[in-house]
Amino acid sequence: MRRPLVAGNWKMNGLPGSAAELRKMIDALEGGEHCDVLVCPPFPLIAQFVWDSADSGIEIGAQDCHFAENGAHTGDVSPALLAAVGASAVILGHSERRADHGEGDALVKAKAEAALAAKLLPVICVGETEAQRDSGAAESTVLAQLDGSLPNSAAIVVAYEPVWAIGTGRVPENHDIAAMHHAIRQAVVGRYGDAGQKIRLLYGGSVKPGNAKEIFAIEDVDGGLIGGASLKADDFLAIVAAA
Ligand code: 13P
Repeated sequence: MRRPLVAGNWKMNGLPGSAAELRKMIDALEGGEHCDVLVCPPFPLIAQFVWDSADSGIEIGAQDCHFAENGAHTGDVSPALLAAVGASAVILGHSERRADHGEGDALVKAKAEAALAAKLLPVICVGETEAQRDSGAAESTVLAQLDGSLPNSAAIVVAYEPVWAIGTGRVPENHDIAAMHHAIRQAVVGRYGDAGQKIRLLYGGSVKPGNAKEIFAIEDVDGGLIGGASLKADDFLAIVAAA
């Protein structure tokens, strides 16, 4: 009942020439998408990628936005501009934003509300550090992040990304992913009622072609948020095929 979503987070990677990888993805997917596919490049590539992917099965998104519509916020990008250039989604509260820029839950929530107002799909990221998992606080950490970060509308995607699994090649045990996604499902249903059943919950953190199928088979895992493996069309396509 939930259509899977595979989203690529390019992070601070890519140059205009990387459109060749996007082109390979578009050509391979043409017409045959069994799931939603989203690619989130750095800001300067968004408009070009939207143009390149027109009428393909691939949507283009951003990796962050400001909460204001416009104004004196040097270096920031508004949700209204992202929507105007054709982005359809925005990743918010990624652990790298939280760590590098001190973003907290209240700010993530404000950004999510602003993204929704601009008709963007917010992909809200949560996840525990290794120390939090080791001390038995993984679930309470994630639930507290959800409590503070979720907007009033259920028109969102939630991505569970354990910080220690990002870019490390380490992945939680399947039963740990299942337990966390179950807890997140209960939290969003508790908050939004039935609408919470429709929210897609993505797993992110060292998803590769070799482990995607197994991870996507876990209950309440509705796809993935892919970092490193989303940069190469062949890897990303293999992960899309696994969804
Ligand atoms: P990796 O797939 O490179 O571990 O990154 C995951 C991630 O942070 C996606 O947002």
